Amino acid sequence: MTKQDLVAYAAALPKAELHLHIEGSLEPEMLFKLAQRNKVDIPFKSVEEIRAAYEFSNLQDFLDIYYQGMSVLLSEEDFFDLTMAYLNRARADNVRHVEIFFDPQGHTERGVPFDTAISGILTALSMAKAQFGMTAKLIMCFLRHLPEEDAFATLKQAENWLDRIDGVGLDSSEVGHPPSKFARVFKAASERGLKLVAHAGEEGPPDYVHEALDLLEIDRLDHGNRSLEDDALVARLAAEEMTLTVCPLSNLKLCVVDDMREHPLKRMLDLNLRATVNSDDPSYFGGYMNDNFKAVIEALPLTREDVKTLARNSFLGSFLSEGEKRAQLAAIDLV
Ligand code: HPA
Ligand code: ZN
Repeated sequence: MTKQDLVAYAAALPKAELHLHIEGSLEPEMLFKLAQRNKVDIPFKSVEEIRAAYEFSNLQDFLDIYYQGMSVLLSEEDFFDLTMAYLNRARADNVRHVEIFFDPQGHTERGVPFDTAISGILTALSMAKAQFGMTAKLIMCFLRHLPEEDAFATLKQAENWLDRIDGVGLDSSEVGHPPSKFARVFKAASERGLKLVAHAGEEGPPDYVHEALDLLEIDRLDHGNRSLEDDALVARLAAEEMTLTVCPLSNLKLCVVDDMREHPLKRMLDLNLRATVNSDDPSYFGGYMNDNFKAVIEALPLTREDVKTLARNSFLGSFLSEGEKRAQLAAIDLV
């Protein structure tokens, strides 16, 4: 199979997206439109100027722009429009199921109520289910640069929504904010029946992955790239069938890898890790699901079987029921 055929095969496969920050799907065009609609001052005069600002040398560089971009999201309609645009874009890539992160503290900090943000997002998720059968889970992330106390306050604000929130996650500036800082609030979330995921090993050391496993007791690992520096950790992740939500274009844009040809995705698969492909913050990192598949297929010696495994892993690592997983896996075999 040529690389071109493999890219087409990947595009045609049914897939799940497990690592997507909804605020990171805010395209420059919508950012500009919402700034005008809401009369929010932004330091850019055009869509081109916004796009030109998307050059990052590390995670913090990106986060500074990401939090600034969020400032245009004020009303329930804004959150609905943002989410609907992403779901339509994901659908075009044959994404059949999404597990979306949102950052409530990025909004409540600015005076936008928790209920406003989540209502807009949930309305879009229900509409996508009704209109084109896309299923979704919602994961509320805690910002790790803030104190654990603030995460507890966020969990409290979520109290009335817990039947519509599937899990909690941990994102934002990793180094200096280890998973151990959030052990208590993750325990409280677990006691409320929520699934647990955490970003670890993106910029942080393998020890942070150990902490996420041992102290947070995560159900899934976001990124996890630096786990490969620790052979015992790799063996453990493989034995536990821990899903890694890998984000190739994000890794390139944030300089987690210097060149896509050095990306560890193929190595992860060869080490029997349950790796998946995801877009993280597609508007900032230059592409959605199929763009990520295209980038790794072109740069790495992935086989047809590898590509199929990546699609299968996305459903195996999801929080769908066993029956739903079986149906999606059967659909993959038909391509
Ligand atoms: N890493 C950490 N925090 C984030 C990211 C990421 O890639 N995207 C949005 N918040
Ligand atoms: Zn992320």
